[in-house]
Order: sequence, then structure tokens, then C-alpha cells
Amino acid sequence: MVVDNPRNPNNKGDETALELLAELRREAKAVERQTQNAYYYAEPIRAKTWCLRCHGGSKGEPDPMFPKYTKDGWREGEVIGAAVARVSPKK
Ligand code: HEC
Repeated sequence: MVVDNPRNPNNKGDETALELLAELRREAKAVERQTQNAYYYAEPIRAKTWCLRCHGGSKGEPDPMFPKYTKDGWREGEVIGAAVARVSPKK
């Protein structure tokens, strides 16, 4: 799962994955990309009502359930990230 502003920095996607997320925000249903090192396939993840319990609210507001993080300010139905499959040949 790739988002451009993750709570956990380990969840940040690589440059190609973030480009694909930007394309998905322009209403694409799915995108694929072949780079020199890998094949990528990505579909959008949309916020559902129950995601907003933690990820909604106002961006930057403290999250009482997970005090080390702040709320994300997502809105229902918004494309908040991408599910990305990356396949690269064995080294
Ligand atoms: C109970 C609270 C809660 C709910 C409900 C919840 N999340 Fe999360 N989500 C979290 C927390 C906490 C993290 C950070 C986890 C970590 O430390 O890796 C996270 C991380 C993520 C990430 C990874 C990016 C990041 O910010 O680190 C995505 C994508 C995500 N959530 C999507 C969703 C979606 C989509 C839904 C609804 C279908 C949802 N979440 C519902 C608490 C929640």
C-alpha cells in the first residue's frame, strides 16, 4: 500500500509507485509501468467510512488511539493511496 504522506515512513512508496498514485488520482482505474528494474501494477485505494475513524478528522490533529501519529484528514471516497504490485527479476 502506497500513500504519499504516510504515518509510518516505512510505508512510503518508491518514486515510480508515487507517480502511479498520481495517475490513479486522475481517475485511472488501474495503471501499469515497466521500468528498467521492475514491472509495476497499481489500483486505487479509496477511503471508506470506517477508515475515517482513525484517518479522518482534521489533518494534523492528535490521534487518541495511536498517540504517536496524527490524523490524516481523509474524506470518504477519496483516493488515498494505491495498492501496488512490484515484480523484479532475481538478482
Ligand atoms: C483503528 C484505526 C485505523 C483504522 C480504522 C484504519 N487505519 Fe489505516 N492505519 C492506522 C495506523 C495506526 C497506521 C500506521 C501503521 C504503521 O505504523 O505502520 C495505518 C496505516 C495505513 C496505511 C499505510 C500508510 C501510512 O500512513 O503509514 C494505509 C494505506 C491505510 N492505513 C489505509 C487504511 C484504509 C484504506 C482504511 C479503511 C479501509 C484504514 N486504513 C483504517 C490506523 C487505522
